Amino acid sequence: MQSYTIKPAKSVRGEISVPGDKSISHRSIMLGSIARGVTSVRGFLRGEDNLATLGAFRAMGVEVEDDGETLRIKGKGLHGLSEPSDVLDCGNSGTSMRLMTGLLAGQRFFSVLTGDKYLRNRPMKRVIEPLSSMGASIFGRAGGDKAPLAIVGRELAGTAYASKVASAQVKSAILLAGLYAAGETEVTEPHLSRDHSERMLRYFGADVDSFAGGVRVRSGRELEGKDITVPGDISSAAFFMVAALIVPGSELLIRGVGVNPTRTGIIDILTAMGASIELLDRREISGEPVADILVRSSGLHGIEIGGDLVPRAIDEFPVLCVAASCASGRTVISDARELRVKETDRIAAMASNLGKAGVKTVEKEDGMEIWGVERLQGCVAESFGDHRIAMSMLIAGLAAAGDCTVNDIECIATSFPDFIPLLERVAAR
Ligand code: S3P
Repeated sequence: MQSYTIKPAKSVRGEISVPGDKSISHRSIMLGSIARGVTSVRGFLRGEDNLATLGAFRAMGVEVEDDGETLRIKGKGLHGLSEPSDVLDCGNSGTSMRLMTGLLAGQRFFSVLTGDKYLRNRPMKRVIEPLSSMGASIFGRAGGDKAPLAIVGRELAGTAYASKVASAQVKSAILLAGLYAAGETEVTEPHLSRDHSERMLRYFGADVDSFAGGVRVRSGRELEGKDITVPGDISSAAFFMVAALIVPGSELLIRGVGVNPTRTGIIDILTAMGASIELLDRREISGEPVADILVRSSGLHGIEIGGDLVPRAIDEFPVLCVAASCASGRTVISDARELRVKETDRIAAMASNLGKAGVKTVEKEDGMEIWGVERLQGCVAESFGDHRIAMSMLIAGLAAAGDCTVNDIECIATSFPDFIPLLERVAAR
C-alpha cells in the first residue's frame, strides 16, 4: 500500500492543463468502435478506467493505433464487434461496466463483465432492470445486481423508461442498447445528468433528440467515424480550483477545461460560496463547450446545496466537502444519496477523514452537514480505494496546519495518474 505525505503550501500559483475528460474518453472508444470508418481521438485520458474500456473493445476485435498522442480507432460498424474469448475486466470503472452492459445486450454474442472488488460491490440492477424490459438477457450475482455479469446478446425492442435516479450511466446504457433495439427508445430522468452520450451520438450522426426531461434515440442509422478532441476534465480541474481557493495568496489558470452546463455545478456552488472564478476564452470543440478557468483564493462561506445542482456536481462532492471545511459557517448537502454508491460511500468516507482533520460533520442519509474551521489539522487520512477521496484529502493537506498523509493512493491512477507531480508543481512552500 502506497501513501503520500503532503506539506502545507504558502500559495498555489501558475498555469496548468488537466488530463482529458474521463466520461468523454470512454464514449469516444465506445462510439468509435461501433462507427463506420476511422475515429481519431486527441487528448484521450490514459487513466486505468479508460484503458479498461480500450482493452475491452480491443478484445472484441477493434483495432486501435496509438502514437502516444492520438488514438486511431478503426470502427467496425454497428454489427462488427466480435465475441470476446475471455471475461472483459472493467477494473474500478462503473462507467465501463454500465455503458458496456447496454451496448453488449444487443450484440449477437455472449460476454462477461467483471471488475475489481469495489466495482463488484456496486449496484447494477439500475441498468439491468431497464435493459431487461427491452428484452435483454443479463445475469449477475446477488440476485442479478452485482458483477460479474453474464450477457447473452439478443434482439431488443425499444422502450420508454422513466429513471428514478439522475444517472448518466443509466441513461447512456439504455441509449446504447437503443441503437440496437427495434423502433424508438426513450429515457427520462428526474434531473438532467451529464449529456455527453447524447452530444457524441448526435456528433456521430445517430438519430437522437433531447427534450425537456429526457432523450430519445431511433435505431437503424449507422454511425460515422469522427475526429474528437477531448477537453480537460472539469472533475480533475475541481481539485485544483479548490486548492487555489483555500490556500491564501493563490492564483491559478487552468486551460482547456470542458464546461458543459451539465458538469459546471462545481463552479456554481463555489461561486455561491464566495469564490472568485472566471471563465475565459469560451469556445466549442467536438460538440462540447470549453474554457480556461481562472481561480483566485477567496474567503468562502457555507451554503445549502441540493436539487438539480447535485447531478451537475456529482463527482465533485469530496472536494466540495474540503472547500466547506475551510469556509465560514455551516454547509448543508442534501439530495445526494447517490454519493453512497460511488467508488466508495463518499459521505461516510469524507465524514471520517474530515473528522481526523479536526472538522465537525454530521452525516445524513442523503448528504452531510459540515462546520468550517479556521485551519484544518494535519492528519492521516484513508482513500477507501477511491481516487477522488484520495485527491480531496491531498488538497486538504495543502491548507492544513501540519503534514497530511493519505494512505492507499494507488487508486489515483484510475482517473489522474500525474496528479501528485502536477500538484507539487503549483504548490509553493
Ligand atoms: C459518469 C456518470 C456519473 C459519474 C461517473 C461518470 C458517466 O455516474 O459519477 O463518474 O461517465 O456517465 P452516475 O451515472 O452513476 O451518476
